[in-house]
Amino acid sequence: MKVLVIGSGGREHAMCWKISQSPKLTKLYAAPGNAGIAEIAELVDIPAKDQEGLLKFCKTKAIDFIVVGPEAPLTEGIVDRFRDEGIKIFGPTKFAAQLEGSKAFSKEMMKKLSIPTGEFEVFTSPEKAMDYVAKKGIPIVVKVDGLAGGKGVVVAASMPKAMEAIHLDMVKKVFGKAGEKIVVEECLEGEEASVIAITDGSTVRLLASSQDHKRIFDGDKGPNTGGMGAYSPTPAVNEQVEKEILDRVFIPIVKEFKALGHPFKGFLYAGIMMTKNGFRVLEFNVRLGDPETQVILPRLENDFLELLLATTQERLNEIQLKWKDEDCVCVVIASGGYPDTFESDKKISGIANAKENPDIQVFHAGTKLINGELCTAGGRVLNVVGTGRTFFEALSKTYHAVDQIFFEKMHYRKDIGHRAASARGGSTFPPEADPPPAGAGMTYNKGIL
Ligand code: AMP
Ligand code: GLY
Repeated sequence: MKVLVIGSGGREHAMCWKISQSPKLTKLYAAPGNAGIAEIAELVDIPAKDQEGLLKFCKTKAIDFIVVGPEAPLTEGIVDRFRDEGIKIFGPTKFAAQLEGSKAFSKEMMKKLSIPTGEFEVFTSPEKAMDYVAKKGIPIVVKVDGLAGGKGVVVAASMPKAMEAIHLDMVKKVFGKAGEKIVVEECLEGEEASVIAITDGSTVRLLASSQDHKRIFDGDKGPNTGGMGAYSPTPAVNEQVEKEILDRVFIPIVKEFKALGHPFKGFLYAGIMMTKNGFRVLEFNVRLGDPETQVILPRLENDFLELLLATTQERLNEIQLKWKDEDCVCVVIASGGYPDTFESDKKISGIANAKENPDIQVFHAGTKLINGELCTAGGRVLNVVGTGRTFFEALSKTYHAVDQIFFEKMHYRKDIGHRAASARGGSTFPPEADPPPAGAGMTYNKGIL
């Protein structure tokens, strides 16, 4: 089977890595990919947003199956376009992708289905939004409706900050059309977790839980980023909470889309806040998380290509997911200065040393070859991923591997997994050398509608 993966980040490298292990695969392409993906797939120099270029390529090469990584092509309707041409493609349709593409759509749907989420109002007028914020008080959250590359959410701790966010979104229009509509939402407190499901429109399977680290600096300080690290599983979400999320979030959503005549096929990611009153859904994404994928896929025992194919062919009921009884940790190495301005083209060394341990993977995000030498080419550069019998073992191996890698001005967090570490009675400063015994096995094979 000839497969094309669309995207170019660490998530897509992890997806390509897992797909390349499938006996079903004969040839793997990635568009546009990166220097790490190039080691396992043939790169195609077509950007993810060029639907017509990708379609032409797929027809010329007789590609059997397309897997889409990022959200933008999904919200732009790539699945509908390819499906209309009779080409098999994994992911939700444009209609279903509104769950991520429009925060107003997703909040209204949560309200309709009584899915636990923060109280909110949707506004198209800045004056009305400001009146509402003045009435509700702070802290409050202001979100642009459309896609904004993770930058469209402001958690405002002061009234001027909230008013400024509304002004920037709706009057200055810094996010363009994405900010024509905004959602103003109750500010929730608690620990965040990522719970991702895969569904073929009828059957739902939960993937292993995970937690990412959005802030740039240790101690969850500084601005938000695309994600500075992750680990799986997370103790923030126990089996009981998972079952509740399945029953109260994923199953109602999947039933609703089916009833609307637009079955949801693909990954559905719920960003969860564990508040003292129970879980609340912060947002939906219609794809795998980045860097969550990098810690989920190494734990998956199933043939990933077969899983994606079965989902596309509406036979997910035939598949039970199996997870390795291991923990997995990812530390992102970024360019100094990220998420603001940073320099690129720095020579990277030490990846081969880091990978000497068979429990280590290094997934590339922003890398490219310059005169045959591996160099940085983005904010987030590498994802160092380690597995272990316990969380502390995985953590320790991962940081040991990170220590082998070098490029000028590199930056990474030294406290990835600090919440899981405290929940397990330890600390990530520094990772413990002598890991406690392995925890009990976990199963996630629940949820057939
Ligand atoms: P979102 O894109 O909606 O997930 O928001 C990005 C980040 O903003 C989340 O991961 C949270 O850290 C934060 N956030 C979003 N909504 C809320 C909320 N209602 N209360 C507190 N923090 C929030
Ligand atoms: N890690 C957050 C996201 O993928 O949206």
